[in-house]
Amino acid sequence: MDVRLLAALNLLLESERAGVLALDELARELEQEELRAFLKGARDEEARNVRELESLITAEGAVPSAETGPFAAKVRALANVRERLALLSRGQEWVARKTEDALALAPESGPIHDFLTAMANHHRAEVEWGRAEVIRLLDAR
Ligand SMILES: [Fe+2]
Repeated sequence: MDVRLLAALNLLLESERAGVLALDELARELEQEELRAFLKGARDEEARNVRELESLITAEGAVPSAETGPFAAKVRALANVRERLALLSRGQEWVARKTEDALALAPESGPIHDFLTAMANHHRAEVEWGRAEVIRLLDAR
């Protein structure tokens, strides 16, 4: 596999792994059932992406990174839940951009292309929906 593509996929892998951790920690901190359920759904999606990225990299005969990105620690360092949720939303946006960067390096068809296309679309949609949902749920408190 192209080394730049491998690096891009590993960056996404590390980021999604950090996302699982951040969402897990935040969900445990919240009392609102609906918001917890939303974050757990997002966490499960991130975990699926981790597994999928690992198997796409392995299928190419390359080695998936075992690292976790710095994102969870950045979320943890913030003062309150609202700030953490806002950073999560910006994190999704960052991943959407990085996924589009990876897509530009990927072959024009095949499993990597298809997965990255779906992942980019999903993250874009989740940024919009997540932002609205989080604001609604926080305000309903
Ligand atoms: Fe993600």
